Amino acid sequence: MNRRQWPLFRRRHTLHLDQAPAPQPASPISVDGRAHLINTPYFLPKDAEEDARLNFQHRALYAAMGNHYLAPIKPETDTILDVGTGTGIWPVEMSRIFPQAHIIGLDVSSSSFQDASTAAYTFILGDVLKGLPFPEKQFEFVHQRLLVAAIPTANWSTVINELIRVTRPGGWIEVLEIGVTIKHAGSETARLLAWMGDRSKERGFDMGMVSQLGQLLIETGVQDVEIHHIPAPLGDWGGHVGSMLKANVLSAFNALKGAYCTQANMSPEQFDAWVQDVAEEWETFHASYVFHAAYGRRAPSA
Ligand SMILES: C[S@@+](CC[C@H](N)C(=O)[O-])C[C@H]1O[C@@H](n2cnc3c(N)ncnc32)[C@H](O)[C@@H]1O
Repeated sequence: MNRRQWPLFRRRHTLHLDQAPAPQPASPISVDGRAHLINTPYFLPKDAEEDARLNFQHRALYAAMGNHYLAPIKPETDTILDVGTGTGIWPVEMSRIFPQAHIIGLDVSSSSFQDASTAAYTFILGDVLKGLPFPEKQFEFVHQRLLVAAIPTANWSTVINELIRVTRPGGWIEVLEIGVTIKHAGSETARLLAWMGDRSKERGFDMGMVSQLGQLLIETGVQDVEIHHIPAPLGDWGGHVGSMLKANVLSAFNALKGAYCTQANMSPEQFDAWVQDVAEEWETFHASYVFHAAYGRRAPSA
């Protein structure tokens, strides 16, 4: 890589990029009426409807977890990176909690960014599968959320190593994923999740490994690792949070429909009917949706 220091001037700190991000248009293509990115394995849609879902999902996660992060980061944390930032809602809201920090939201496409960069946060292009465009030890807190449909199984170790590489010694790394574990659901839910898992495996993704991310952090040398499998109500039976999560999961299933149905040669109508049966089970059995989160510190001496 041709190392070119490109300073991001902020209130108190200067971050450096290895090189200025190359302009990279979103390049959407249409699959079943939804736009998708090309040049990446990412298989969720990339369009206004998906952006609205991501923002709603952000609210649903906050309602379920009561915070935007779990790691015990200090209030004076000054350099934060959000990998695969999507619409950028996480950096924007984190900048209110950490007004002294500068937060970078990085994504492979800029098409979802909804805010212009400010003194508090900067949005940049970058592909975590190709390496993060920063020298090592830049950030006190590195956060990555909901990239399960972006990172093929074979790439997870390299991605975790990249997150660690750009974290300062003693700094925190946090990953959070959802989507593979629904507890107290019926047989149709189990069957749908298994079917989706098989479709994902055909694409080189192992959805089940999102529950193993803590173990991956430990194996990669991260210290003080805490692993949380957080259940939240899924369905109207679970009040406000349950209804929000149900709406989000149904909307996520709808977003995945085009890719999965094309692969399995299933009609969208058949898929919709299946999902409807599944959602009824959530109310009958009082299902819960599990968030898989893990965080830990880069060794202080590393
Ligand atoms: C499901 S969204 C999650 C967005 C955000 N983290 C959130 O929690 O709202 C996944 C995001 O990852 C981005 N993405 C996909 N592949 C990527 C890659 N290789 N490098 C960086 N970002 C990627 C997508 O463009 C999308 O914005």
